[in-house]
Amino acid sequence: MRPSSFSLVILIISFLLSQPSSSDAAVNCNNIAKSFKPCIDWVATGHKKVAVPPKACCNEMHKLNNMGIDYDAEIAICECVKSEMQDPNIDEKIADKLTWRCGVLLPFPTVPKVNCSEINATNTRGLNQDTN
Ligand SMILES: *[C@@H]1O[C@H](CO)[C@@H](O)[C@H](O)[C@H]1NC(C)=O
Ligand SMILES: *[C@@H]1O[C@H](CO)[C@@H](O)[C@H](O)[C@H]1NC(C)=O
Repeated sequence: MRPSSFSLVILIISFLLSQPSSSDAAVNCNNIAKSFKPCIDWVATGHKKVAVPPKACCNEMHKLNNMGIDYDAEIAICECVKSEMQDPNIDEKIADKLTWRCGVLLPFPTVPKVNCSEINATNTRGLNQDTN
């Protein structure tokens, strides 16, 4: 291969690798369900053994917070989280502490009965929330 065509191949490959995949931007409940699983496990049973949520869970909470770029995205994320919370083992009080324990303030309470249409459009980030 001549050096110039080799460089071209490298250029094309790095271009392709740098393209964000569209699934990263859109809210995808299946992806959220997968990565949110450590949170669900902790809320359901894990909290009885360990007082703090696993790191994998809190990382996911941060990701969800960063994904909520606008009102529509927040509603979609809220609906995904809500559907994951429909596990009968989930203790609502523990669920409500999840964001606080992770140090992430999502604009909606992470509880099974959250009404996602009550998210405030003007305040989708860093919404005040009652502690504990
Ligand atoms: C959720 O909140 C909206 C807006 O306040 C309200 O219209 C709706 O009835 C509520 N849904 C439930 C299930 O409470
Ligand atoms: C949205 O704002 C209203 C008025 O400030 C407040 O009563 C309500 O609890 C907020 N909704 C959420 C989900 O925090």
